[in-house]
Amino acid sequence: MSIRITLVLGLLGITSLAAQEAWQAKPDVVAATTKRLPQFNFDESAVKPYQLPDVMGTGRVRSQADWKRRRGEILELYRANVYGRSPGKPQKLRFETVAETRDALDGHATLRRVAILSNQDGREHRFELALFLPNAAKDRVPVFVLINLGRAGATEMPRGVTAAASELIPRGYGLAAIQNGELAPDDKDHFREGVLQLFEGTATGDRAPDAWAALAAWGWGASRAVDYFETDPMIDMSRLAVIGHSRGGKAALWAGAQDDRFSLVISNESGEGGAALTRRNYGETLPRITTSFPHWFAPRYATFAGREAELPVDQHMLLSLMAPRALYVASADEDLWSDPRGEFLSLVHTSPVYALWKEPALSDRMPALGQPVVAGRRGYHVRTGAHALAPYDWQRYMDFADVAWRRK
Ligand code: GCU
Repeated sequence: MSIRITLVLGLLGITSLAAQEAWQAKPDVVAATTKRLPQFNFDESAVKPYQLPDVMGTGRVRSQADWKRRRGEILELYRANVYGRSPGKPQKLRFETVAETRDALDGHATLRRVAILSNQDGREHRFELALFLPNAAKDRVPVFVLINLGRAGATEMPRGVTAAASELIPRGYGLAAIQNGELAPDDKDHFREGVLQLFEGTATGDRAPDAWAALAAWGWGASRAVDYFETDPMIDMSRLAVIGHSRGGKAALWAGAQDDRFSLVISNESGEGGAALTRRNYGETLPRITTSFPHWFAPRYATFAGREAELPVDQHMLLSLMAPRALYVASADEDLWSDPRGEFLSLVHTSPVYALWKEPALSDRMPALGQPVVAGRRGYHVRTGAHALAPYDWQRYMDFADVAWRRK
C-alpha cells in the first residue's frame, strides 16, 4: 500500500489495512510446529483439495421445518459414527448442596458446591458442580457452564475455574464449572469408571461401535448441570452457555448439539474432533486423535482413519446443529495443531443453515489477528498467543453474549 494512502486512511482514523489483513499462520510458528511434529502438515499450500458432505443433504432443505428433519438425520450420523449414543437423565437424579459461601471472589460472588447424584439400577454416581453467582445480581442470572479439564477428587478449586469466575462475575454472569475427570477419567484404560459404568454396569468388556465415550460423558455432565438449574429460580434458563477448551471444547460442542437448553455454544480451540474440518489435512488428524485418545470417541470413529472422505459428516455439520442458536468459535495464532483456518471454515459452512433464519452469511476470508467477526448469531476470533482459554477469550465471549442475549 502506498504511503500516501496509508496516511490518508490514518488521518481519517481508519486502522491501517495491514492490521486488517486476513490471518495467516506466521512462518516461524509454522516452522517450529513442523519441527516439533514432522509427521503432520502445517503448510497451507500443502492442503489437498477436499469435498465436504452437503450439510443440507440430498433431499432439498428449504425451510426451517425441512431442517428439523435434516437435523435429526445429522444428529443420528454423529451418534452412530463419532461420539456415540448418550443416555439422557438417569432413573433418579438428586442434588445436594455441599457448601455455600457468600465470600467468594472477595465477597463479589456466592459460591455453591452442589453434588449431582445419579442413580441407575441401584448404582450411584456423584459429581460436583461449582456454581458462582454474582452477589450484585438483582434479577435471574445468565450462566456459562464450563466443562473444565480437572481430575476427580481434587480438593482445591482449579485455577482455570477461579480465573473464569473472576472474568464473568464482574460482568453479571454466573459460572457453573464441572470437572471432566469426575464424569469419565481422561485415560484410555479407566475412562469407563465414571458415568459409563453407571449406565452400563461394568467398566470392562466389549463395547458397541456406537457406544458413547469420554467426550459424550463430559457433555452429559453439562446437561445434568442444567437439570440442576431447573431447580434454582435464580438462574436465567433462557440464557445458558456451554463452553470448553480444547478437548473440553469438543465435549461442549457435542453437549450443545444435543441439548438445546444451551442458547449459546462456545468452542475454544477445540480443533480435531471439535470445530475443525476433519477433511482438511492440516494439524491434528483423525488417525492420530483416535490412536492417542481412543477413549474420546465411539469405537466406530477410528475405522474412518485413512478414509476420512467416507465419513458421512464433517464438522461444519456438527456446528450447524446449533442453528439458530448463538455459536462462537475461537482459535489461537500459535495453536496450529487445532487448525485455526479449519475451525473458521467450519463455521463459515454453517451459513446455509443459519440462512434459514435469515442470519447474515459469513465471508470465507479469515479475519485479522485479534479482530473478532460477528455475523448475527455467529462469532469467531483468532487471538494472539498459544493454546489456552485466556482472559481475552472470555471477554470476547461475554461481549458476544451481551448482544446475543440482548443484555444491553
Ligand atoms: C491434544 C489433542 C487435542 C486436544 C488437546 C487438548 O493436543 O491432540 O485434540 O484438543 O490435547 O485437550 O488440549
